[in-house]
Amino acid sequence: MRLKDKVALVTGGSQGIGRAIAARFAAEGAKVAISGRGREALEETAAYITGQGGEVLIIEGDVQYKEQAERMVDDVLSQWGKIDILVNNAGVNKTASFLEITEEDWDWHMDINLKGTFLVSQRVSKEMVKQGSGGSIIQMSSVNGLAAESDQAHYNATKGGINMLAMSMALELAEHGIRVNALCPGFIETRLTKPLIDNAPAIENYLKTIPMKRVGQPEDIAAAALFMASDESSYMTGHCMVIDGGQIIKLS
Ligand SMILES: NC(=O)c1ccc[n+]([C@@H]2O[C@H](COP(=O)([O-])OP(=O)(O)OC[C@H]3O[C@@H](n4cnc5c(N)ncnc54)[C@H](O)[C@@H]3O)[C@@H](O)[C@H]2O)c1
Repeated sequence: MRLKDKVALVTGGSQGIGRAIAARFAAEGAKVAISGRGREALEETAAYITGQGGEVLIIEGDVQYKEQAERMVDDVLSQWGKIDILVNNAGVNKTASFLEITEEDWDWHMDINLKGTFLVSQRVSKEMVKQGSGGSIIQMSSVNGLAAESDQAHYNATKGGINMLAMSMALELAEHGIRVNALCPGFIETRLTKPLIDNAPAIENYLKTIPMKRVGQPEDIAAAALFMASDESSYMTGHCMVIDGGQIIKLS
């Protein structure tokens, strides 16, 4: 068990990629808190993890609000007394062309994806510094943080910001033994991407952009998150890891 006796918080852990990460961490021996919006999905995921023999805590909350973001961390500390691993996975995505994106939608993406990541990260980092035993922070970015996708300027900007935040945090927190890395998934099968996956002609066309010719699964990302969370990546910090079936390397 690679995360035995570790305590982890996974934001947006109720479904999709966050759920797979939480389940994988629990299977590797970690106590896992999952936060998100919507109690029903949180409870369903908690029941799944408990059914597999894992230990889990549910925290309902919205990462864009400071007091709710900080309460997520406080709840973990009151339950288990420490925090070793944070995965800032909560995120949203809406399609809109650059000429049409509204200020409201711009702010919505910035507040949840980027500011939410900052708020939870800062609270957890302060606690990790106080604890004095280091830690691993994983920021959920995207290939959209490394290359631009049309009709996603607002989302691309949040993920590019997350990559730079991960590097900046890694730089300042290294002296405390806190490692900070980012995951950059490509196209992963979740509720976010289901409409395209269910559209047979569209997905057939889309798969031409992926050298490995398949859509990624949440478990593909969970495996990389486990590596980043565990001591197996103990000399890795400030890294943005791409898991995309080769999509981003393809020029034609
Ligand atoms: N699915 C993909 O292809 C893909 C690719 C690259 C990156 N990502 C990123 O991975 C992360 C998870 O994506 P997913 O596809 O699993 O999405 P999803 O919609 O299935 O799950 C999102 C999770 O985030 C939570 N969440 C959303 N807004 C929140 C808020 N304001 N406060 C707290 N929790 C909130 C939801 O409750 C849910 O648990 C996101 O950051 C997304 O940008 C996804």
